[in-house]
Amino acid sequence: MIELINKLKSKWDINENIDDENKSIEIVIRLIKVCNENCLFCNTNLDKSVIIYEDLVKIIDYFIDKYFTNYSIYFSLSWWEPTIYKNFDKIVEYICQKWINIKIQTNAVMFSNKSFIEKIIKYKNYISFFISFHSHIEKIYNHITSSNLYYSSLLWIKNIYNNFDSDSIKINVVLNKININFFHEQIKFFDKFFSNYDVNIIISIIYPNKSYHKKLLVSYNKVVDVINTLNYTGKVKIIYEFWWYCQMPRCFFTKLKVDDFSINEVWLDLDVWVQNMVKPSVCKKCIYNYKCIGLPRLYLEEFNYEEIIPIIK
Ligand SMILES: C[S@@+](CC[C@H](N)C(=O)[O-])C[C@H]1O[C@@H](n2cnc3c(N)ncnc32)[C@H](O)[C@@H]1O
Ligand code: SF4
Repeated sequence: MIELINKLKSKWDINENIDDENKSIEIVIRLIKVCNENCLFCNTNLDKSVIIYEDLVKIIDYFIDKYFTNYSIYFSLSWWEPTIYKNFDKIVEYICQKWINIKIQTNAVMFSNKSFIEKIIKYKNYISFFISFHSHIEKIYNHITSSNLYYSSLLWIKNIYNNFDSDSIKINVVLNKININFFHEQIKFFDKFFSNYDVNIIISIIYPNKSYHKKLLVSYNKVVDVINTLNYTGKVKIIYEFWWYCQMPRCFFTKLKVDDFSINEVWLDLDVWVQNMVKPSVCKKCIYNYKCIGLPRLYLEEFNYEEIIPIIK
């Protein structure tokens, strides 16, 4: 059994993100390697694999057995677009019937379908959402997602707000070269368009996986500047939670003028992480060196080392 789980873990890139302080664990499961959009910074439609339902159930049972007694567990159903997985509603039901929470990472496209919502709505107390919406400007949204789904996407997101608790919904905006200059405007747009709801926005930073992503990169200084100059006092809540690879080196966080940001270090140990990230020698002087993720190699090919200013006390 453990052999099978290990095989599935590596094929499906399953992560266990343990938060020992709060005794909670997120298990990220990727269901399908296809998507109905094709975002410029994502690697979609790789091999069109789909996890077998029976294997999925085995994985879920395995993790529940392993962690149930000591942790509060939640499953994140993700990559590429989990909601197009044929048994998606069945798996939501399987997990929620065990009183376990799930987070659905989605572009919201399937939520146009009423019967889809009806199938999962009864578990609404166990479900939270992490929805991508990278631009409020039609042309930019369609360009980034290589789709023409802008208007439908907006309506579908509204459909989620109409059916689920707004507290359980977060909208993720991946900052990149194409949308960054419109970010302040985007917040005001959310304020107006979703005026009846409490809207929570997560900011992420594009992580380059492929060399063609380089042209979409935005410098970390620019990100800091955009965050620091945001002069917005409305009710949209911006959550500065920098997760996994969608973040910047530690020295840049010291420049941020927001006090309530959090940085996730879960992936620091992984080999793949180390392979993709680098640290210029100047980082050795920095007080954050031991806990800093460094920079993606491709980032350093695009921008220069002078941006890195070690923090020395
Ligand atoms: C890969 S998607 C899977 C779920 C769903 N298809 C979606 O787009 O929301 C998970 C999240 O990763 C983000 N993402 C994809 N590629 C990224 C990259 N290279 N850098 C930063 N975020 C990325 C997406 O925008 C999305 O919010
Ligand atoms: S919608 Fe999600 S999975 Fe699909 S291409 Fe965009 S980021 Fe990738």
